[in-house]
Amino acid sequence: MREKFASTDFVRQKRAVLASLQLILLAARNPEDADRHLRDVAERHSSAQLDVGAELYDLWLDSLLATVREVDPAFGPDVEQAWEDVMAVGIRYLVSRY
Ligand code: HEM
Repeated sequence: MREKFASTDFVRQKRAVLASLQLILLAARNPEDADRHLRDVAERHSSAQLDVGAELYDLWLDSLLATVREVDPAFGPDVEQAWEDVMAVGIRYLVSRY
């Protein structure tokens, strides 16, 4: 996985991921909207471009949850479940367009 980020600008990457979390929140509120909000992100991660396979999303979600556990003082089973539910919408969509 590391080599995929070999030439990544991480200041820009942080901003892009924050923006896409907001897109996933919109899509989670109304799953029919996933296409409108996430189409370009999905295309970028597809087999034709970044080639991010389904197994990488599991690692990604584990890392995200580990970070939330570390930084959110209110972290608990409800918060963890909420992150899992919302992220599942985005991950399902991106994997479906692999
Ligand atoms: C739901 C999960 C994910 C979301 C919402 C997401 C979102 C994004 C966004 C918004 C960008 C910037 C796109 C652009 O520059 O136009 C990006 C880039 C990228 N993502 Fe993801 N991503 C996700 C999962 C993953 C996973 C699992 C990997 C696994 C390796 C990955 C690898 C990358 C790489 C390599 C880039 C390009 C970095 C660069 O520009 O050098 N992403 N992602």
